[in-house]
Amino acid sequence: MAACPHGEKLVLDELPMPTDRDAAWRIMQAAGKQAGDVVRYDGGYALTAVDTVQAAMREPGIFSSKQVFDMLGSPVPMVPIGFDPPEQTRYRRILQPFFSPRRMRQLEDSLRQQLADLLDPLADRDEVEFISEVAGVFPTQAFLTLFGLPLEQRDQFIEWKDACLALSDAAGAGATADSEVFVQGQQKAGELFGYLTHLVQTRRGVPGDDVLSQLLCLEGEDELSTEEALGLCFLFVLAGLDTVTDTLGFGMERLARNPDRRQELVDDPSLIEAAVEELTRLDPPAPFVPRLTTEATVIGGQELPAGTRVMSFLAVANRDEDLFADPYSIDFHRPENPHVSFGMGPHRCLGSHLARLEMRLFYEEWHKRFPEYAIAPGTEPTVKWPRGTIGLTSLHLVLGGGEASGR
Ligand code: HEM
Repeated sequence: MAACPHGEKLVLDELPMPTDRDAAWRIMQAAGKQAGDVVRYDGGYALTAVDTVQAAMREPGIFSSKQVFDMLGSPVPMVPIGFDPPEQTRYRRILQPFFSPRRMRQLEDSLRQQLADLLDPLADRDEVEFISEVAGVFPTQAFLTLFGLPLEQRDQFIEWKDACLALSDAAGAGATADSEVFVQGQQKAGELFGYLTHLVQTRRGVPGDDVLSQLLCLEGEDELSTEEALGLCFLFVLAGLDTVTDTLGFGMERLARNPDRRQELVDDPSLIEAAVEELTRLDPPAPFVPRLTTEATVIGGQELPAGTRVMSFLAVANRDEDLFADPYSIDFHRPENPHVSFGMGPHRCLGSHLARLEMRLFYEEWHKRFPEYAIAPGTEPTVKWPRGTIGLTSLHLVLGGGEASGR
């Protein structure tokens, strides 16, 4: 019963997410309104408005991230997301300077050139599968650049990352340890683990321009152990690659379906920064952020016992009419855009400035080359579902003035 009349639970797997995600967000939003912004779903309680999301995400002593990650049983400490303050505060203090907007801007020239190298060869093509050919590869290149690794390792990293994510999906879906996806996932995760272990060992104490070398040159109380550094690298692979891929895929789908908005960006590229925020508001790739209550508490008037799973529904909070006029429409001229797609509170996305840079550069370079594009006729982009993070499985675009398939 996805529609959730009063008193019933929202069942996430039954939502029409694959084909019409806005309809799915509307159902969740309606359920939230009926239940005072704290709604029962089949995994616990969901928070559906900015106020309740904020109340949970800014109170990590009661709404714990650590307890959620402890249940997953990761072999390495998931630095920093698998910790609560004060340990998490220490990690953020160490890491934050390496991910500031100023530091990220140092990557700009290299990333822009990489985009040119990726997009130029598409100039004589009529059609592109945008996810596998562009959005799926560029964020991995950005990660390799950040860590000072050769771009030739891109496809290997993509293979490792896909296997690790499939493994974590399979674990979430209750797959058995002898299932093929599990065995294969573990083998690939083991290869990535071995590679990263060697990398951390060889980079430690060796000065370099990249973020990893610099982190591994820290001494004294800021020094990260090998385990901590490994956990951080793993988290980057899990949190920093598909998130950008998925946000770009959703953003390009919306632009392809809305030629007026697309044309606005072509005519006035200074709108691209606002477009990045607006498209990220509409389609957060990690729209369900979990916490576990450490004690009995009350949120939005709802009493919750200790040990309750509480999920912030970011895409629904981003459609709060009190903050966003006409929230389901795409508007690059909103006076403010306080969306929560990067989270809030102590765990707010560490990579948000890198993600924003990647997306801004992409939209700039793409629209210089391809001012016109549309969904390829006969194709229908669908959302991977059910999943904790969401994205399109494919996005076939015709380039140039091909026949549009709008909705
Ligand atoms: C559009 C792209 C992205 C979105 C929408 C996004 C979203 C988020 C969200 C919602 C959180 C908070 C999770 C929570 O509170 O439990 C988060 C945390 C995090 N993100 Fe991102 N992310 C993106 C890209 C990236 C990238 C590119 C990186 C790596 C360079 C990254 C690294 C992290 C890390 C390390 C954390 C954990 C922070 C902490 O626990 O203190 N993310 N992200």
